Amino acid sequence: MNNTEAEKQRKGVMSVYDKMAPTYDKLNNDAQYQGEAILLEMYKKYGISAGKIFDIGCGTGKVKDLLGDSFTYEGVDLSPAMTHEAAKRGYTCHTGAVEDVIKEIGDKSVDHVIALSCLYFIEDVETLIKECERISRKSIFIILEHFGQEAKERMESAQVHVYNHPLSIVKDPTETKKDIFLWKRPSTGDIVNGNALFKLLE
Ligand SMILES: C[S@@+](CC[C@H](N)C(=O)[O-])C[C@H]1O[C@@H](n2cnc3c(N)ncnc32)[C@H](O)[C@@H]1O
Repeated sequence: MNNTEAEKQRKGVMSVYDKMAPTYDKLNNDAQYQGEAILLEMYKKYGISAGKIFDIGCGTGKVKDLLGDSFTYEGVDLSPAMTHEAAKRGYTCHTGAVEDVIKEIGDKSVDHVIALSCLYFIEDVETLIKECERISRKSIFIILEHFGQEAKERMESAQVHVYNHPLSIVKDPTETKKDIFLWKRPSTGDIVNGNALFKLLE
């Protein structure tokens, strides 16, 4: 993707999620979204109960409702309307593309990195995962959707590309959950399956 296409993608994502932000939490419930529950399962299993979370594509910061106040939250999202909602929940927010913002975050300056249903909008996730490992002291958790052809085309009808990424983008994961139900797109009924990857860094 050249710079013009990347800019178009960012504008497209921003426009979609700016419109969605006020009703996003309800939509997320309607979609039976599973990413948060899998994250919670991993955190319980590996005894993670506190620390600073860096949330990639944080949306409204809804994950805070589940994980609670023993964590602190720093989020990044392309959509100003989304970061506005996340800030209301107590997030420290960056509005912009994570590919740019993450470069400004210090080495080993957060405890945990999470990316829930965001990486399918980003082409070069290999570089991004390396950056996640650079900034995080303790863990990384990512969700990787795998869109079937029809679901992909329907998503892309809003002028936004989606990328199916291979599991190999995370080297030596501690846990991999493969081919699991992740969510159902309320407007089309498309079922989106995919993978969850968790990596302990220490
Ligand atoms: C499906 S929502 C997921 C929101 C949240 N993580 C959740 O689980 O509820 C995807 C979010 O990723 C954001 N996003 C997409 N591409 C991004 C990028 N390159 N940098 C930062 N945020 C991005 C969108 O603006 C949107 O808010």
